[in-house]
Amino acid sequence: MAIVNGTITNSSPTSASSARETTIAEIGQHVDERVTLRGWLYNLRASGKLLFPIFRDGTGTIQGIVPKAEVPERVFETLKSLTLESSLTVTGRVRADARAPSGFELDVEDLSVTQRIPDETPYPIQLKEAGVDFLMEHRHLWIRTPRQSAILRVRATIMRAAAEYFDNHGFVRTDPPILTPNACEGTSELFEMEYFDDGKAYLTQSGQLYVEATAMALGRVYSFGPTFRAEKSKTRRHLTEFWMIEPEVTYMDLDGLMNLAECFLTHIVRRVLELHSADLKTIGKDITKLEAVVAGAPTDNSEDCSGSRSGFPRLSYDEAHAMLIDAHERGLLESMHKYGDDFGSPDETYISSQFSKPVMVHRYPASVKAFYMQPDPLDPSKALCVDVLAPEGYGEIIGGSQRIDDYDLLESRIQAHHLPMAAFQWYLDLRRYGSVPHSGFGMGIERCVAWICGLEHVRETIPFARTLNRIYP
Ligand code: 4AD
Ligand code: MG
Repeated sequence: MAIVNGTITNSSPTSASSARETTIAEIGQHVDERVTLRGWLYNLRASGKLLFPIFRDGTGTIQGIVPKAEVPERVFETLKSLTLESSLTVTGRVRADARAPSGFELDVEDLSVTQRIPDETPYPIQLKEAGVDFLMEHRHLWIRTPRQSAILRVRATIMRAAAEYFDNHGFVRTDPPILTPNACEGTSELFEMEYFDDGKAYLTQSGQLYVEATAMALGRVYSFGPTFRAEKSKTRRHLTEFWMIEPEVTYMDLDGLMNLAECFLTHIVRRVLELHSADLKTIGKDITKLEAVVAGAPTDNSEDCSGSRSGFPRLSYDEAHAMLIDAHERGLLESMHKYGDDFGSPDETYISSQFSKPVMVHRYPASVKAFYMQPDPLDPSKALCVDVLAPEGYGEIIGGSQRIDDYDLLESRIQAHHLPMAAFQWYLDLRRYGSVPHSGFGMGIERCVAWICGLEHVRETIPFARTLNRIYP
């Protein structure tokens, strides 16, 4: 091996001297040129004196053509018996081919193997169908398959677009602690640990309480980091460790918050459509469903959320309840929603599948929501909160609310929820000293990825999912 311009190379393929090193993602810029790719053998098909290898390099896959008569014998023989996922460097000429899935093929000229996987210990994930448990047990390898790689690329863009939206609209990123002395979203789902002599500490369930403090300092803020919930249920929407992005804005009310959520989601979907049509195709997502989400949204690309919007439907809890009762009566929904209860997964799935855009359900009964939510002045039994349900039955992706800004009311809610008053003194200080109305929401990245990619289960939306029954690998 040698190091050339900071890249470790094998002794280069003999005829590669004039070939440009590139990636599969960029190969369209090199049609009719000779290029070198560094990656792995993803698949191999032989047909008489022709080999059809599929190479992958992390940015995509491309099919190679290797006619025995046209390449050195060494190249043909090496490739012919090469084991899947062996690592290699390949040089060849790029040809545009409308029939190829990527639009291009590589006429292989030379090849050098970095590591050949021995025949006795083949790559565990062969291309035939494998069960999900097996794949999750081999997640460290499963992520190499084109579909999983595509999902991870889309995830990265969703995370970048999410942060970018706030960065471009005057928000300051403020990172809350992961180790916390108090609960934010109910006490039944806390991961608990000993914290030296101070007693118990908990892994954060949400950065919200802390971004409320940083909002009072900086106005518009957001946090973005891992959050933890000891979810004891096995559902396709719950992880025990997931990433949340949480904006918090002073002097913003519930309507302003709904506008913000709409502009934010519009920006994310636009970004994914702009950058990932090939990946969405690999994943099998129908992009017309995503195009419908952003259809009609202002196209000035600024996604400025000041001023009202009406793109995403808005339903009160009462209206959503009526919709569920109607669905039950028409036999479209098995369970009957009980007024006053939270919505279950089937309820959310039903409501969200009625719309092509995300739907915002607001003003839930305060009794099913968190202690910090501001009561609706028109009906104090309701909270000024919103859940955004993704289309296509994906359910809740965003939860948020206006926060209680009155000291006495907040104190009484902390008491009523049997939360430890001492641990919340700093949070009450925010209402003691210059309290203002303020609002914020949290979006779980994995729920958003599951929706945008059209995935059955959130376990495929994060490189290494943590669930009730999995902490390996
Ligand atoms: O609705 P939640 O519980 O709201 C909060 O935590 C607020 N403190 C956020 C805020 O206002 N700043 O969670 C917010 C979002 C959900 O809508 C969902 O997308 C995601 O976090 N989420 C989960 N994602 C994966 N697995 C879980 N167990 C999740 N629990 C919540
Ligand atoms: Mg919620």
